[in-house]
Amino acid sequence: MKPLFLIEFALEAVKKSYAPYSNFHVGAALLTKDGQVFTGCNIENGAYSPSLCAERVAFAKAISEGVTEFEAIAIVGKEENEFKESCFPCGVCRQVMAEFCEPSFKIYLGNDKSTFETYTLGDLLPKSFKL
Ligand code: THU
Repeated sequence: MKPLFLIEFALEAVKKSYAPYSNFHVGAALLTKDGQVFTGCNIENGAYSPSLCAERVAFAKAISEGVTEFEAIAIVGKEENEFKESCFPCGVCRQVMAEFCEPSFKIYLGNDKSTFETYTLGDLLPKSFKL
């Protein structure tokens, strides 16, 4: 699947973001090795700590459906209605990726301008902790 096509899914997902406290809206689209796409958006909470990141929502949806092998993720972020040039995944999400993905797992950071950057999980979380 082409990166821009996966970013289109993330751009749809960000529309569902529930982020009334930060006004920072995130959408993610997770591509599985067998070609399925699971999307996620951030879901905030008035008590703050129960808030969920978009990437982990996408992983939870896939894993809870029995899919555990992943190829790539596209992430878009939007602050106060303005798309970020690139929205990097937080450290906790990187650690969740490291649990299920190889260092070659692709991370596409896109926006609404049909541009994207490509990283690997190995780039963004080298020497990750693993039991
Ligand atoms: N957020 C994500 O959804 N993914 C990340 O990787 C970083 C941060 C969300 C959490 C919160 O709802 C908002 O962005 C601001 O931190």
